[in-house]
Amino acid sequence: MSVVIAIDGTAACGKGTLARRLALHFGFAHLDSGALYRLVALAVLEAKRDPANEDDAVRAAGAIDLTRAGDPKIRTDIVGQAASKVAAIPAVRASLLQFQRDFAARPPGNSRGAVIDGRDIGTVIAPHAAAKLFVDAKPEIRARRRRLELEGLGIARSEADLVAELNARDAADRTRPISPLRQAEDATLLDTSDLDIEAAFAKALELVNPRIEKALAARPRG
Ligand code: CDP
Repeated sequence: MSVVIAIDGTAACGKGTLARRLALHFGFAHLDSGALYRLVALAVLEAKRDPANEDDAVRAAGAIDLTRAGDPKIRTDIVGQAASKVAAIPAVRASLLQFQRDFAARPPGNSRGAVIDGRDIGTVIAPHAAAKLFVDAKPEIRARRRRLELEGLGIARSEADLVAELNARDAADRTRPISPLRQAEDATLLDTSDLDIEAAFAKALELVNPRIEKALAARPRG
């Protein structure tokens, strides 16, 4: 039985960084589920098709190329917005579901556990996760972090535009009928507005550690 940490949250809230750090700390595998939707979106855009079109998006989801998960092209905000569109299509989510559940149940590299970040990890993908966080921060702060991240990719964006885009994407993610962005009832809210990366990681660790230690201790040996 693998031990799962589910980290959900709003756009650009820093959940990816927290998930990577927690995975490193516990020696768990990490899955950025948003990258799956971003890969589908990039494939649809590259084929010059419409991300909101079910046939186009489902075809791309069925042919997802995981070797491109590290491609910086998936990180642009254009791809992020298209990802939110393909993610609202039930058949796309269905197509990506099993991969994520398998990752949670049998993490690669024979890891004892998995950290998965996204929007529906604590609610749909891994409802029995040992620990669940819901990460958020004020939109202005998330926009500043995203501006710096995009700057690193050579993309210049104004924070005002980014606030509007992040808010629009969160609103779409929260109100879609399938797997909407929401805090699971047993998830703990972590607001990182006033925390830098180190402080946010320390707080996240403090919140999940007792549950993870307990879950690891309860695992059958061998
Ligand atoms: O990095 P950021 O928080 O901006 O986005 P992301 O986590 O890469 O996710 C991009 C989009 O994929 C989101 O706006 C969601 O619409 C969708 N997504 C989802 O529906 N379910 C997930 N588990 C992860 C992402």
